Amino acid sequence: MSHPAPTTPPAPAPPPEAVGPLMRSLSVLRELTAGGGRQAVGDLVRGTGLARSTVDRVLSTLARLGYVRIQGRDAVLAPRLLELGNAYLAASELPDRLGPLADRLADELDESVSLAVPDGDGVRFVHQATRRRAMSLAFRIGDLLPAERGAPGALFADAWDADDWRRWRQRRAADPTDAGFPAVPPRPAADAPAGADNASGTGFEARVAAARTAGWSLDDQLIEPGLVAVALPVRDAAGRTVCAVSVVSHTSRLSADALREAALPRLREAVATMEYALNAPPATDAEAHPAAAHASWMRASKQELGPEFVESVARGLITLTAFGTGRAELSLTAVAEATGLARATARRALITLEHLGYIATDGKLFRLTPRVLELGFAHLSGLTLPAIAQPHLAALVERVHDSASMAVLSGDDIQYVARVPTVRIMSVNITLGTRFPAYPTSMGRVLLAGLPPAEVSARLALTHLEPLTRHTVTDPDRLLALLEDVRTEGYALVDEELEEGLRSLAVPVHDRTGRVVSAVNVSTHAGRCSPDETREALLPALREAAADIEADLRVAGRFARIPTG
Ligand code: PHB
Repeated sequence: MSHPAPTTPPAPAPPPEAVGPLMRSLSVLRELTAGGGRQAVGDLVRGTGLARSTVDRVLSTLARLGYVRIQGRDAVLAPRLLELGNAYLAASELPDRLGPLADRLADELDESVSLAVPDGDGVRFVHQATRRRAMSLAFRIGDLLPAERGAPGALFADAWDADDWRRWRQRRAADPTDAGFPAVPPRPAADAPAGADNASGTGFEARVAAARTAGWSLDDQLIEPGLVAVALPVRDAAGRTVCAVSVVSHTSRLSADALREAALPRLREAVATMEYALNAPPATDAEAHPAAAHASWMRASKQELGPEFVESVARGLITLTAFGTGRAELSLTAVAEATGLARATARRALITLEHLGYIATDGKLFRLTPRVLELGFAHLSGLTLPAIAQPHLAALVERVHDSASMAVLSGDDIQYVARVPTVRIMSVNITLGTRFPAYPTSMGRVLLAGLPPAEVSARLALTHLEPLTRHTVTDPDRLLALLEDVRTEGYALVDEELEEGLRSLAVPVHDRTGRVVSAVNVSTHAGRCSPDETREALLPALREAAADIEADLRVAGRFARIPTG
């Protein structure tokens, strides 16, 4: 006997003003996201149902915007795409206002704390203060949960009307295993008769009613065995629930009830502080938007790429970046001004984005929805510093034909976290995790120079400085003077101090706060030319690579913490 396949209701037809290429570019971005951030172009063609030539044009436009990279036959999401989700997060002001309070709560309770907002019949994370010790999955900013799985959803569904509930039932019937929510493990279909959430009295509707009465919501392993959470709503001055704060633990430490008892008092205090922070006067540091720069960039791109640059795609996506801190709600005029687009063009882009659910409007003012985060945000905000650096190091090696690496400071050592080798010129084989003492290496000197000078002196006083070659500088005062040079010049060149015949040039990589978080270097043979010639030949390309990594880090680190290794 065959059952008719459950189907999701057909998507409403796009309005006549909708911009086709913009819609197609967003479906390419969603398909790439579904593929884990990387897809063969051929698979993108199959997955989107678009013509090969269309996918190619969309991809070259997205590449020009810096949102994807083409690597061989694959298209790969690039960190720059995070600027779209950043625009939503900045405009919402939730991570900026409430994030530090969530972090403090996580410190106090020594448990994970997250902030999430309603997104249709789902729950989307906008901040994570993660303290996961036990083995359980950790959600990333941008990840989406089904409302009925997890603590926050029962708080949000309290505001649902009959239509919302009907849509939720349709979705549950059409997707009984939560296949549409890749961030959560699939649920066994048997658990899921439509409408009731499950057969017992602990169904979703019952939990929504219970949460309304209690004022808090409990997740007793709704997502996966062991994972428990308690959530409270955070309301704005009008009494609307704008987000939920969850404290998350694991049954190996606390049962759901024990977590609720332990966390609720502090959670309540934190929410009171959050509601105060939320209702403080709006931020006014609206970032200036270089509308004129957009227009000339658009012209140059068209000139360079011709038909491979689809202006309506670029215009549509740039529209999303008109929003930001202090720019949560914009009129059509304000969007046109911020982007340098003609009003008619901006209007069609907004209508298209509204049709796709990325923008909401009351007819006058437009604002971004959390759905913008579905465009690769969770994947990209989870990238580590080495993963961000890797393609830039590969491009550098392509240019200079010498090996390039990234390292971080680990005690008195440097530790390699990324490397693109060419020929081997060292006696030892460098792999990820390889350590060398910091003082006789170019990356070590750059990293030491990035520390407060007093700390460096203290460190050097405790370090055993031994000559590794005839050239190794071991005198602490000379080393301090060299580090001072590194600080002023912005690079370190080390010639045969770690190993005879090896010369290496390094520059620092700064995070968005200006802190030196890692170093990148190029290493080469000492015999080929003079140190000055090496510097002239390699420094500009090395500096550009570091600047490109820093630009990615600025976008990626705006709301997410980027692990260095
Ligand atoms: C989380 O932040 O990981 C989280 C939040 C609420 C839940 C489960 C997990 O119900």
